[in-house]
Amino acid sequence: GQYAALGDVAGKRVLVRSDLNVPLDGDRITDDGRIRASVPTIQALSEAGARVVVTAHLGRPKGEPDAAYSLRPVAARLGELLERDVAFAEDTVGDSARAVVDGLADGDVAVLENVRFNAGETSKDDAERGAFADELAALADAFVSDGFGVVHRKQASVYDVAQRLPHAMGGLVSTEIEVLQRLTQDVQRPYVVVLGGSKVSDKLAVIDNLLGKADTLLIGGGMVFTFLAAEGHEVGNSLLEQDQVETCRDYLRRSQESGVEIVLPTDVVVAPEFKADAPPTTVAVDAIPADQIGLDIGPDSAAAFAERIAGASTVFWNGPMGVFEFDAFAGGTRAVAQALTEVDGLSVVGGGDSAAAVRRLGFADDAFGHISTGGGASLEYLEGKELPGITVLED
Ligand code: 3PG
Repeated sequence: GQYAALGDVAGKRVLVRSDLNVPLDGDRITDDGRIRASVPTIQALSEAGARVVVTAHLGRPKGEPDAAYSLRPVAARLGELLERDVAFAEDTVGDSARAVVDGLADGDVAVLENVRFNAGETSKDDAERGAFADELAALADAFVSDGFGVVHRKQASVYDVAQRLPHAMGGLVSTEIEVLQRLTQDVQRPYVVVLGGSKVSDKLAVIDNLLGKADTLLIGGGMVFTFLAAEGHEVGNSLLEQDQVETCRDYLRRSQESGVEIVLPTDVVVAPEFKADAPPTTVAVDAIPADQIGLDIGPDSAAAFAERIAGASTVFWNGPMGVFEFDAFAGGTRAVAQALTEVDGLSVVGGGDSAAAVRRLGFADDAFGHISTGGGASLEYLEGKELPGITVLED
């Protein structure tokens, strides 16, 4: 099976790197998708009699303990989902963490405090990272890499620890890789990619790569205004990355040469302020008032996007089309999500934000072919980059 490389795990301490980086409002978890996705691997190891030690990060604390980023509420939620007690180690490593691990019986589960409370976790210095990985490795007999959302990070709990313990790829990581392979090898066409989110600068490498692979790129979200500016439109007070306008112009030029269609909205929903109750107006993209902010793609564009999506055999979507957190500006994101559920083929929702968006809008996880737990990780996979957390398992 999946963990054959580890031998019989019964009685062994197995360190599992999960991605439990969920959105929180205070200590309330607003979307537990990543915790749910982590359950099967933890459950399987527990049922096989392993003493499961889960390590994960939450947010981006500064390499020292910070109560605002504690994994304690996440450990509690994991216990509810597993329907068993989950021990919590207030330190990630060291004597007190060791004591918690030593207290585990076969099949028990513990969660270590936020691994990023330790500067060694994310250090760029190999020796510093290695020293911390030594401490993590000292807590276990084997390592299972199951945090797909972090496999693009060369960090101690993702990369270095795998070099120090017998290791295996977790079920979540292998499922994610299997699905994403279908977006890069023997792709069923038409292949439509929907990109949104606020910044074009986050998506440059993926757009570059997709211009050679996808049939159609549909672009919405905050990043679209830089493309509209590249087409010569005035974008009012909308988000604009002035230093990327030329790059976007180049993409539009390349799209014409390569036959990969880039589709931009023809209408947008604007408002005078970035506020839930700001009065929305729909305008054509060549008539965005100077004092207004574009907060969603318009209904004509949403319908056009939905039609392209529904006619596709493979769809990958990353990034909301507008400010879906505000009802008045959720229409574009909702239309795209709805269209993905109607795809006769493979539909993949990529990314923490897009995944949280579809759940918040009331869509069930199983309405889509696959909801990836990885945001940056799934984009880097599509960019064709090497993922350190994967290559280290193959070496
Ligand atoms: C994510 O949220 O995409 C992953 O958990 C990785 O988090 P990071 O971008 O802070 O490394």
